Amino acid sequence: MSRTLPRRYWLTGASNGIGAALAEEILKTGAHLAVSSRTVEPLKVLSQRYPGQVLVLAGDLTNSQTVREIGEQIAEDWGSLDTVILNAGTCEYVDAKQFDESIVEHVLRTNLLASSYCIDAALPMLRAGTAPHLVAMASTVTYLPLPKTEAYGASKTGLRNLLESLRIDLAPEGIELTVISPGFVETPLTGESDFSMPLSWPVEKAARHIFEKLKDRPLEIAFPAAFMGALWPLSKQPDQVKLEIGKPMVRSQPPVKDQP
Ligand SMILES: NC(=O)c1ccc[n+]([C@@H]2O[C@H](COP(=O)([O-])OP(=O)(O)OC[C@H]3O[C@@H](n4cnc5c(N)ncnc54)[C@H](OP(=O)(O)O)[C@@H]3O)[C@@H](O)[C@H]2O)c1
Repeated sequence: MSRTLPRRYWLTGASNGIGAALAEEILKTGAHLAVSSRTVEPLKVLSQRYPGQVLVLAGDLTNSQTVREIGEQIAEDWGSLDTVILNAGTCEYVDAKQFDESIVEHVLRTNLLASSYCIDAALPMLRAGTAPHLVAMASTVTYLPLPKTEAYGASKTGLRNLLESLRIDLAPEGIELTVISPGFVETPLTGESDFSMPLSWPVEKAARHIFEKLKDRPLEIAFPAAFMGALWPLSKQPDQVKLEIGKPMVRSQPPVKDQP
């Protein structure tokens, strides 16, 4: 009697926030999961809690060589991948009065370039996978540019375009692509913000919603619905109103700088 093999996932940014909650949802199904982030400890804890299911592959995904090595390790251990979820990311707000290109560089490197390194490493394995699915975490910011989101918005809009273009090119190969566009989700990333997040969702609720929706392979998973509904009227507001909305969006932490 033939036995169905567990589905094989690679999830980036699994140490924290949405990624950590999503890892739980995936592992509860008995699937096998390769997990990446710079911090290794939470990944090890996951592998102890789900013995035999987790492949710990820590590293800085902004380093293309590191990503290549992670890919080689997955290929060696599993040979193929069925689902890749590019979730790792960061957010730094720009202060136009003290415009700092290093913020743009760091955010683009983390959210866009690192994702492209992961796609490069993952594609050959997805081609060998079962019902392959490539998923990336964009943001509702791609629908509504707001003040201070110059770097974050550019990185996520770039990621969306990368995925949507790739979707067309990969369709003949049967690889399906989904873009996820969350509004505000309560995670360490948003916890650093000094402003109250409208219609925010707890991280577990967001992860359950994403995982449930992923089963249908939609082109896009955007939530919360009420937030999505507000984006269109907001986008039509004059710049002065948008400036007022953006005023509280200030970070108490200084931005992370790339190493020269
Ligand atoms: N929370 C929201 O409201 C929201 C809304 C829209 C979109 N998103 C997107 O959802 C994704 C997850 O966000 P989150 O709120 O869960 O953030 P988070 O709690 O800060 O988690 C980010 C994850 O990415 C990993 N990561 C960051 N830089 C990395 C790097 N250079 N190399 C490897 N891993 C890296 C972090 O791990 P290490 O620090 O250990 O490396 C962590 O596991 C992001 O792409 C974010 O832009 C979030």
